[in-house]
Amino acid sequence: MMKVLAVYGSPRRKGNTSILLKRAVEGARQAGAEVEEIVLRDLRMSPCLEIYGCKKKGRCVIQDDFQDFHDKILKSEGLMLASPIFFYTVSAHTKILIDRCQSLWVKKHWIDRIPMGAGPFKRKGLFISVGATKGKKLFDGALLTIRYFFEVLDMELRNSLLYRGMDFEGDVLKYPQYLEEAYEAGKDLVAAIRETR
Ligand SMILES: Cc1cc2nc3c(=O)[nH]c(=O)nc-3n(C[C@H](O)[C@H](O)[C@H](O)COP(=O)(O)O)c2cc1C
Repeated sequence: MMKVLAVYGSPRRKGNTSILLKRAVEGARQAGAEVEEIVLRDLRMSPCLEIYGCKKKGRCVIQDDFQDFHDKILKSEGLMLASPIFFYTVSAHTKILIDRCQSLWVKKHWIDRIPMGAGPFKRKGLFISVGATKGKKLFDGALLTIRYFFEVLDMELRNSLLYRGMDFEGDVLKYPQYLEEAYEAGKDLVAAIRETR
């Protein structure tokens, strides 16, 4: 069975990105994937301490909920990640997870000595984000971080759903077309993974 992780990066349980991701999860399940949902605000996860304990074996040495994520992402063929825009980048919850994956970066580039950007990538990812304002560059910072993060996970950024002008919890419910796009993006991710298997 195809395993896909869905990571909720907003501190709000029923915020805009969570509502969108939930729809994407429904789409991916409809398409036949086994989707596990991970709510970052429920986890106990330290920020990266930059002690490079990972240099020995390519595995983070901080014993907290990241360990479980580490095992799960390696067994997954896809990731659907949702984060609100906070100060022009991803939320702190999301950034903590990303930084902890430095251990995977270390394994890949320092231990296994795989050159940067070496493909083809074996996983596929979807990124969902929402910001309150409408600026042209609203998602630039987050996208740069996400592209680099996905590269570490051997993951192609299949699609990103980026929506502006929503601030309050549930604002996204006013835009049924966005919810539909999220559902379709979930389905599409699974179809794309299946195609390249
Ligand atoms: C700490 C914080 C920082 C934020 N920074 C930005 C920002 O830089 N640009 C922006 O357009 N919206 C910003 N927002 C607004 C959120 O992106 C917006 O409310 C979004 O809809 C929240 O998504 P969520 O409901 O999924 O958490 C910020 C909100 C918070 C709480």
